[in-house]
Amino acid sequence: MTTQPMRPAGSPGAYPGAHPAAFPGGPELFRLDPRVAHLNHGSFGAVPVPVEEAQAALRAEAHADPDAFFLTVSDRLARARARIAAHLGADPEGLAFISNATEGANLALDAVPFADGDEILVTDHGYGTVVAAAARRATVTTVALDPHLPDEDAVRETVLAALTPRTRVAVLDHVSSPTARLIAGPRLLADLRERGVITVVDGAHAPGMLADPLAGGPDFWFGNLHKWGYAPSGTAILAVAPQHRHRIRALVPSWEDEHGFPRSVEYRATADYTGWLAAPEGLDLLDRLGADRVRGHNSALAAYGAALLSRVPGLTGLPYTAGLAMRTLRLPPGVAETREAARALREEIAARQRVRVLIWPWPGGGGIRVCGQIYNRPEEYERLAAALPRFLG
Ligand SMILES: Cc1ncc(COP(=O)(O)O)c(C=O)c1O
Repeated sequence: MTTQPMRPAGSPGAYPGAHPAAFPGGPELFRLDPRVAHLNHGSFGAVPVPVEEAQAALRAEAHADPDAFFLTVSDRLARARARIAAHLGADPEGLAFISNATEGANLALDAVPFADGDEILVTDHGYGTVVAAAARRATVTTVALDPHLPDEDAVRETVLAALTPRTRVAVLDHVSSPTARLIAGPRLLADLRERGVITVVDGAHAPGMLADPLAGGPDFWFGNLHKWGYAPSGTAILAVAPQHRHRIRALVPSWEDEHGFPRSVEYRATADYTGWLAAPEGLDLLDRLGADRVRGHNSALAAYGAALLSRVPGLTGLPYTAGLAMRTLRLPPGVAETREAARALREEIAARQRVRVLIWPWPGGGGIRVCGQIYNRPEEYERLAAALPRFLG
């Protein structure tokens, strides 16, 4: 996992002026509508053609002989899981395929034996469904993380200062969705462990974007493969430290429940397993392209986009974690302060400019997040920056 420091936006060198080169063959690897600038890879990902074809071949096989397919599905899942584990540097018995990050949060929090009065610490950068999973299980304390906190140390100190004697669990983003910052870094995880706090890390953006997503040894960690790991939708991983595995219970128990984690979680009787079985193809593709090269390219593109947007009147750059493929900027006061307003602005930009971005609501002025991916071209960010003033007036 990257531990590069955050740098204040606008500091020397923060926004390279250079026009990043396109990734050779990148756009051709996807069947995205070329008329649309897809600058929001972080929300839903996108499936490269070879991965789509691998999944289609698996579907065809299942449809041709359902008995043969379903009778071998457990073994095939174990093999696919081992391939994912090798990519992530994880123990294959400590991982399970799941559908998405939200499922991971619910499985993890169900495995914690809460007592009356226990608290769960979350941050106000946390993802809605994950925070909701926490609120279902115990009293939630929300730490406000000022998006302008200058660096990872300041984030760590703010989180640690919010612990109470009742804090049993901390649910933290690995990379936050609205602000694109690294929160659950190895040092913060170590500090929490030392204080006896169980860590649940939302790594929705980590696989593919971070070089070492399980660094720091969280108690529970879940990550989407369908975002930066080029896997089909509905493909995620839950990683559980050995001491907690026996407490993991499937949300919907099925035939393999008696085998315990991970099979109890993965096996869902008659379900569509083709996304999970094709998922290793996504990480294999990333390796073939050169994972470091892809990460460097994506991060440079996001930086380029942020540099252009920072020149739009009313937009303010935020501190960021170097090396990540997403950057966010604050919008002027009055713009996108509510969920409805944020959604309306996002849809208006898409309808009028054919540009997809994430607009997130925040009191005092929401934010805009741009992502970089190998199918993006610098001109797409230029189109957004040129058009944005019209939407902010
Ligand atoms: C940080 C974070 N956590 C969780 C999620 C939810 O992911 P899923 O839809 O896979 O449950 C997202 C989705 O964008 C996210 O950004």
